[in-house]
Amino acid sequence: MSIKPIDLRDILDYVPRFRNHIFVIGIDGSVIVDPNFQSVLVDIAVLSSVNIKIVIVYGIGQQMHDLAESRGFVPTNSRGEGPTDDPTLALALECSALTANLVMQGLSQQQLPYAITNTVESRPVGIVKGVDYLHTGICEKVDLPRIHKLLDDGVIPVFPPIAYSQHGEALRLNSDQLAASLSAELQASKLIFLTTRPGLSIDGEPILNLSAEQLDRQIDSAPEHIDPLQLSKAKQAVKVLSGTTQRVHILDGRVDGGLLTEIFDKVGLGTMIHSNEYDRIRTATEDDVADIYSIIKQASKQDFLRFRSLDNIRRLIHDFLVYEVDDSILGCTSLIPYPEDNVVELASVCVQPFHQGKGIGQKLVGYAIASARARHYSRILALSTQAIGFFEEHFGFREADMDALPASRKQELSSSNRNSRILVLDL
Ligand SMILES: CC(C)(COP(=O)(O)OP(=O)(O)OC[C@H]1O[C@@H](n2cnc3c(N)ncnc32)[C@H](O)[C@@H]1OP(=O)(O)O)[C@@H](O)C(=O)NCCC(=O)NCCS
Repeated sequence: MSIKPIDLRDILDYVPRFRNHIFVIGIDGSVIVDPNFQSVLVDIAVLSSVNIKIVIVYGIGQQMHDLAESRGFVPTNSRGEGPTDDPTLALALECSALTANLVMQGLSQQQLPYAITNTVESRPVGIVKGVDYLHTGICEKVDLPRIHKLLDDGVIPVFPPIAYSQHGEALRLNSDQLAASLSAELQASKLIFLTTRPGLSIDGEPILNLSAEQLDRQIDSAPEHIDPLQLSKAKQAVKVLSGTTQRVHILDGRVDGGLLTEIFDKVGLGTMIHSNEYDRIRTATEDDVADIYSIIKQASKQDFLRFRSLDNIRRLIHDFLVYEVDDSILGCTSLIPYPEDNVVELASVCVQPFHQGKGIGQKLVGYAIASARARHYSRILALSTQAIGFFEEHFGFREADMDALPASRKQELSSSNRNSRILVLDL
């Protein structure tokens, strides 16, 4: 199957946003033996070339099924979810070696540097509800510094679904679970599952987009409505999205150009499951005035932000958004409308110093941009002195001159001596 080639401009729009981000890609064994696998690798080469750090985890379920069938042998489990006895482990080791060879061959053809390492330590699952899982293992420890070093050097770490215990015992891992563990440990921004289904289906209907919360409810209440082959990916998605990974994609690895389309096209191709990141953002109320005042006052002392009085904040309170955790306001921003120009200003973007660098600023700004778009403003403005790169690199704002400002705002800026840069994003 093939789809329209993705427009280079679409890719370039996203490049600054994903630069140096980590994407973990879990590839089912069935995708690796599909004729489209070469095209998947071309997509991976494009992602690497725009400085996205790629981690590959491959599966061997299909290979185990096929090889066992050709030998008239029934493995105890081929997906690494149930018990693995001695002959099944021997089969898994053989399939992993054969599959690794295909992956290495493909990456070499694309001239992509890779490394298979022993940076994951495993331990046996043990006995669960009376069943001994024998040689089935789970990811116990990840050597993060070594993986980061490889990624920083532009090397793609490749992880087989076999890992070793601290005593050197080989254990069969489920590749979805391993990909999710790596994604959580490496704080990847995306976990992408490439499979041979058109994304996640519920009751046979492919789903484009859903939140981790919705999926969790579905898994709890009616797991039988989820395609059983995708259930393990669905469960891993919910788990990983409770951490810092913000998006999980499940898509058909047999579609030419599918990976790039999913990432760079606004509509996408498979299923995108997103964290409930916006649950913590809400419109401010009168009760938040004092907290917002204290955050802004602190930041304005260092000239990060323009000072706002309590009265000013009270007057504009319904234009403010706050990021709240356990009844504490950790950050805020405001959207000040200029309806006559159909533009809105993103102002007072601020995160409490202790909570900076944890993604809160990006979530607040992402949310504010999405709500400005939903309210059909044509452009969003931001005036910044010390966070210009934050807006440009993460959201694609561009510098503009005074003419981009509504007349009243122009006057206000000229009479202040902050000398702020004017940044604009077309919506
Ligand atoms: C700017 C600010 C809102 C960012 O919020 P945050 O929660 O710390 O940021 P996040 O964790 O969401 O994002 C971190 C990313 O933003 C970048 N970033 C953070 N502050 C930045 C700044 N002042 N300039 C450029 N980039 C910045 C980080 O380098 C990091 O980039 P990376 O993902 O490529 O590594 C926060 O640092 C802040 O409140 N600063 C003081 C107030 C301020 O300057 N506000 C802007 C007014 S215009």
